[in-house]
Amino acid sequence: MSGTNERWASRLGLILAVAGNAVGLGNFLRFPAQAIQNGGGAFIIPYLVSLVVMGIPLLWVEWAIGRHGGQKGYHSTPGMLDVLGRSSLLKYFGIFGIFTNLVVAAYYCYIESWTLAYTFFSITDVFNGMSQGEVVQFFKDYLGSGEGFFNIPYTALIFFAITLGLNLWILSRGISGGIEKAGKILMPLLIIFGVFLAIRALTLDRGEYGTVENAVAGLNFLWTPHFDSLANPKVWLAAAGQVFFTLSVGMGSIHCYAAYLRKNDDIALNAASAGFMNEFVEVVLGGSVVIPIAVAYLGLASLSTFSGFGMSFMTLPMLFENWGPLLSAVGGFTWFGLLFFAGITSSIAMGQPVMAFLQDSFKFTRFKSTMAFGIAVLVLALPTIILYDHGAFDEYDFWAGTFSLVVFALAESIIFLWIFGIDNAWEEINRGADIKIPIIFKYVLKYVTPTFIMIVFVGSMIQPEGGNWALAFEGLFNGQGWNLDAGSVLGTLFHIGVTDSDKILVTNLTRLLLVSVYVILGVLVAIAWKVNLKEKRV
Ligand code: ALA
Repeated sequence: MSGTNERWASRLGLILAVAGNAVGLGNFLRFPAQAIQNGGGAFIIPYLVSLVVMGIPLLWVEWAIGRHGGQKGYHSTPGMLDVLGRSSLLKYFGIFGIFTNLVVAAYYCYIESWTLAYTFFSITDVFNGMSQGEVVQFFKDYLGSGEGFFNIPYTALIFFAITLGLNLWILSRGISGGIEKAGKILMPLLIIFGVFLAIRALTLDRGEYGTVENAVAGLNFLWTPHFDSLANPKVWLAAAGQVFFTLSVGMGSIHCYAAYLRKNDDIALNAASAGFMNEFVEVVLGGSVVIPIAVAYLGLASLSTFSGFGMSFMTLPMLFENWGPLLSAVGGFTWFGLLFFAGITSSIAMGQPVMAFLQDSFKFTRFKSTMAFGIAVLVLALPTIILYDHGAFDEYDFWAGTFSLVVFALAESIIFLWIFGIDNAWEEINRGADIKIPIIFKYVLKYVTPTFIMIVFVGSMIQPEGGNWALAFEGLFNGQGWNLDAGSVLGTLFHIGVTDSDKILVTNLTRLLLVSVYVILGVLVAIAWKVNLKEKRV
């Protein structure tokens, strides 16, 4: 059966599915790492401002584009953008909404599979008696790090295959029978596990179970505001990037879920509820586990070593061991289990748009489109697994998981708010609404949100060395030119600061692969429109 006529079975199911889409590894792994790297309390204000002027408005934009497109028979972004204006080029911007989901799903499912593996390792008490060094080495061995150029980490591959299989199984059961059911079961479990861990973390007192500090010191680090950060564009960029990733905006997955709504179903309240649920899980639960536990055992100074997705795997299993045999297994099981639930409810949301594109465009059955998605994810994930150490994984994360989100959000907000027009857009967002969105948001949507995204885009392109903008402008006016930061888009593009030639080679090949994926999707869109979809244009 083609998925085109599917619908959500209940409003609660829809909200939990969309919240499950947003709540992911980003909430528990990326958010604490970003907050730490950007000064804790210094990060929170730009984060909350980005949420209000960009995140929530983009949620409304994406739900509205999705519901509008769904009414015209489109469940993925090429078709949805196509029907917003007269230019036949619009659909090519929409390719981002398939590209990003596909590529992010590939490396995201890989991290998700680590969480499944670590849930298993926790129950089987693998970490019992290990020192910090041994836990770190265990993680490296698991990833096959440092064993020559092409590393085949067999255990990791097995867990990846199981994880992908579970994703495909849920997807093959459809919108209400698969995705909605998964959200209804896994989201409440995730919240119960998160509350348990947060209570456990925040009640750790200095001297108890080998702790060196009160866990609450970790909360103070996160929640004591530093107003000076408001003048630091580097922190703003990081905060905006986190808002993108955590809400899953700029990806194309929210559009797809919204496409299964009816014409007059509410989107204003649904979008806001799912968004706020994500923020509760991120800021309250996500902020109350890793940071307080790390601070309690390792002290505030230890936080500087927390970065990237990997830290929780290298540190927490060892810290849980302090809780004794039973509680340490429960701690590991709830933590990694929670991560797995968070991950899988997000990765299925990346699969559905790709499948919907195949179903709408080429009349694939649900089974056939599930298989096609599975094969594509497997093929795309292999470089990140085998060449993990050499930068393939980071390239996927940077270009698909970070840069593309901003580009697509910019394109869709211009297309929806300016080409389709703010009056049409406002009507679309408010039709059937169960809340009255304050009128000021009409102006925020038209002017502030696109400008904000534009600033994020330009800022991330040319971020100067060390993120020190004042110094960079001073240098520019003194004729010393502009030194790009290695992490800026242009700095990354030109391999600034990278000396390892193997890494440059892998990076360039990975980029070639990513560009090829985009081009192949572009060709598929062109064929689909020529052969099957032409008559649908309004
Ligand atoms: N929004 C998802 C996450 O936070 C992708 O992980």
